[in-house]
Amino acid sequence: MELKNLLYEKKNKIALVTINRPDKLNALNQLTFTEMEFIFNEINNDDEIHVVIITGAGEKAFIAGADISELNKLDIISGKEFAEKGQAIFNLIENLNKPVIAAVNGFALGGGSELAWACHIRLASENAKFGQPEVNLGIIPGYGGTQRLTRLINSGRALEYILTADRIDAHEAFRLGLVNHVYPAAELIPKAFELAEKISSKPFQAIKLSVKAVRAVDNMGLREGQNYEASLFAIACGTEDFKEGTSAFLEKRQPNFKNC
Ligand code: COA
Repeated sequence: MELKNLLYEKKNKIALVTINRPDKLNALNQLTFTEMEFIFNEINNDDEIHVVIITGAGEKAFIAGADISELNKLDIISGKEFAEKGQAIFNLIENLNKPVIAAVNGFALGGGSELAWACHIRLASENAKFGQPEVNLGIIPGYGGTQRLTRLINSGRALEYILTADRIDAHEAFRLGLVNHVYPAAELIPKAFELAEKISSKPFQAIKLSVKAVRAVDNMGLREGQNYEASLFAIACGTEDFKEGTSAFLEKRQPNFKNC
């Protein structure tokens, strides 16, 4: 597929996906969603890629939300389809079989915040601004924001941000635990690659199984989650890298992982 609104690069086990509509602050229109669906399905099936970074083009925005010129045309029927399409693509990203790091470089409003909430790890530049300003447009977050933000912080805090449309700056996001680290803007992408490289140096099966186990927390209670964890642990015990990692420790040598 020819990509118009996305940039896609693969470098040493790391994929970099850049939402590329800087003149519209990377607002998510339907074409961008179609391209995202295509590229994230490709990434899911590509075993050469062990970690994904997603960011926005330009210095001002990660993503300034859903494209309001498209939103403006919605009615009751198309509104449901619109929300469900965005949700399906963010679910695809959240359920990806490898870690996804959001490198949030500026405005992450509406769908931009909702995409960040769907990623596995969030890093922010000092000028990052999150927020759910949908009420200002007479709507509510529709790409999973009411559900994920509430799980990430708590219902009182999530509701205050959703009801007031107040923005969350990078340091507040860090204080709330919404982002792991805050960096000067110029360091954000190098730091995201540094983290991605560190993760991608670990055995891939253990990385994939770790993501699966942690992501299950939203869908399972403690006992069911523990059963699931034990099943994934058992799968890890069947990998060659498990034998190699444990043998290397016992033989006091560096492991030579084969990612299988
Ligand atoms: N949908 C469509 N276009 C958008 C957009 C969006 N969500 N956000 C920004 N743009 C466009 C603007 O219309 C403008 O296009 P133009 O140059 O053709 O007029 C361009 O991006 C630059 O935005 P602008 O508003 O001029 O930049 P700014 O620095 O003054 O303000 C924001 C930046 C992010 C505060 C402002 O663009 C904004 O509030 N955007 C909407 C955020 C929002 O409500 N998102 C949730 C949608 S559910």
